[in-house]
Amino acid sequence: MDCHMGKRVIYMDNNATTMVAPEVFEAMRPFFCENYGNPSSIHSFGGAVAAEIEKARSSLAGLLNCNPTEIIFTSCGTESDNSAIFSALFLCQKRRKIVVSKVEHPAVLNLAKELLRRGYKVSEAPVDSKGRIDMERMRELIDEETALVSVMWANNETGNIHPVEEIAAIAHSKGTLFHTDAVQAVGKIPINLEGSSIDMLSLSGHKLHAPKGVGALFVRRGVRFRPFMVGGHQERGRRGGTDNVAGIVALGKAAELALRNIETENVKVRRLRDKLETSLLSLVPKCRVNGDISSRLPNTSNISFEFIEGEAILLLLDQLGVCASSGSACTTGSLEPSHVLRAMGVPYTAAHGSIRFSLSTYNTEDEVDFVLEKIPPLIARLREISPYWKEKGRLS
Ligand SMILES: Cc1ncc(COP(=O)(O)O)c(C=O)c1O
Repeated sequence: MDCHMGKRVIYMDNNATTMVAPEVFEAMRPFFCENYGNPSSIHSFGGAVAAEIEKARSSLAGLLNCNPTEIIFTSCGTESDNSAIFSALFLCQKRRKIVVSKVEHPAVLNLAKELLRRGYKVSEAPVDSKGRIDMERMRELIDEETALVSVMWANNETGNIHPVEEIAAIAHSKGTLFHTDAVQAVGKIPINLEGSSIDMLSLSGHKLHAPKGVGALFVRRGVRFRPFMVGGHQERGRRGGTDNVAGIVALGKAAELALRNIETENVKVRRLRDKLETSLLSLVPKCRVNGDISSRLPNTSNISFEFIEGEAILLLLDQLGVCASSGSACTTGSLEPSHVLRAMGVPYTAAHGSIRFSLSTYNTEDEVDFVLEKIPPLIARLREISPYWKEKGRLS
């Protein structure tokens, strides 16, 4: 349990960001006021810092099972996604199309929109009602014009795990590169890039208990790469800009912890998530899980409480100190279901009442029990004042 301004906080929003692990915080601390040298400097004060960056690179490579030289440190997942996509388009000028899925994060989808404005072609593969990618359609969309296919490893809203190796193989059969946004996958499920068909992979520190402001891009040896950030010779000329030393060291430490603990943490986190989910489904009438429960991150549960607004649920949960997310966002004054739930065709009455709980190893059984005690009466209260529930829900 965490505290915020003296109030108990139950944090179940770990797909948004995670707490910096205490061990990670300790590992990065010396790089502010003691070992603050510039790793590019010639003197040994800077050189010592450069060595720590290489140690962090090896730790991250250990988590991904790749070669350390295949890792480029960046500032975040968004930068990694942009770097991969721009690089592929720049180096393959005869092909002016990318293929993505309809459920990508805005870091990819909004870039795709920008590419459309710049005259590129973009195709979006649809998903079914469980959020699974339509593989037939994906196969049809990847053609000889396609420079890159980019599909996320795991979805941030539903937790769905996509068949990235299979899609990468299809891309390769058309002479196309494959990139995956693995921002939600790394640290939550085992990743093995040795012998994989994935050419490029993005990740972000703040999703795996490192701080915000550091990320990485894996670029497979032999895959040509054009830098997105052009400047100094940092990262072997592949990403200009003085390294975020403390952040990189932190990411290395977080990777080390994830590699060591992933199996045991997954068992624990999955058990808590399953308890929360199955209990809510049995305690609250008219609720449903969004996503593919047979292929999902162990920490994520996206539940629709039908006939009420997710935002209202979030506000009441917030008063109780419980942090979660909703599957709708306020655009132009009205609540719009998220693009992911819309792509899945989740009915209006369910999409609006969707809540994403995303757990971490720091959650406890007591916290889950507290949420289970509070949510059923909270939903009942909201339904009492919901015109939708009075009109349709109660009778359906
Ligand atoms: C799937 C996915 N991709 C990319 C990002 C962006 O990562 P960052 O916040 O590090 O830019 C996020 C963040 O929520 C994400 O969930």
